[in-house]
Amino acid sequence: MKHIVVTIDGPAGTGKSTVAREVAKKLGFVYLDTGALYRAAAVAIDDSGCKTSNEQDCVRVLSRATINFADEHVFLNGLDVTQRIRSQRISSLASEIAVHPSVRNALLDLQRSFRGKSSLVAEGRDTGSVVFPDADIKIYLDASQEERARRRYEELISKGFAVSYDQVLNDLRERDSRDSSRATAPLVIPQHAIVVDTTHLSIENVVRIVLDKVRRYLAD
Ligand code: DC
Repeated sequence: MKHIVVTIDGPAGTGKSTVAREVAKKLGFVYLDTGALYRAAAVAIDDSGCKTSNEQDCVRVLSRATINFADEHVFLNGLDVTQRIRSQRISSLASEIAVHPSVRNALLDLQRSFRGKSSLVAEGRDTGSVVFPDADIKIYLDASQEERARRRYEELISKGFAVSYDQVLNDLRERDSRDSSRATAPLVIPQHAIVVDTTHLSIENVVRIVLDKVRRYLAD
């Protein structure tokens, strides 16, 4: 069977990760969380003491860093950073380093290396527009800013982070604006993408919609 690529893009808090993980599990596809790569890269840069605004320093740090995924855990230079990459601080730093074209370029081959071994579900901001522009199925998830902040807040609280809803909403607004307005690979609805507004949908419903699209595609 031909290996296919499904991309799921959208802003923070639309349920991309949960949906992509579930769809991949149900279909036996590989799951790629590209945001986790940017987050692990942000940890490397944070630990180095370099400023996220200095593009050259960021790339220099990344050229010496090794990022791996194994069993749904993320490793930076062999250390498990799965929990650490989810903090509010790292969310903001990841979005800051993601504006640099050479940082994005440094992470491109690693993202593309996930293709081919098996069918793939990749999620992020530019997986359908830049990383896999020829993907077989492109999904774009959206939801209102307030609903996305509520989901992110509940996720952070459940993971033990001490945050307030207002702080999460503010950070999300800043990130939305930075991720959508940057010059290189901004968050856009990829051409031919299927747009799903998840504001009033449960995760189960969104998973069902995406699974339905993929199964129809495979049946054709
Ligand atoms: O999806 P996420 O919230 O884990 O992503 C964290 C940040 O990483 C996001 O604010 C912008 C950046 N990112 C990106 O620029 N391109 C991607 N494909 C994925 C994430």
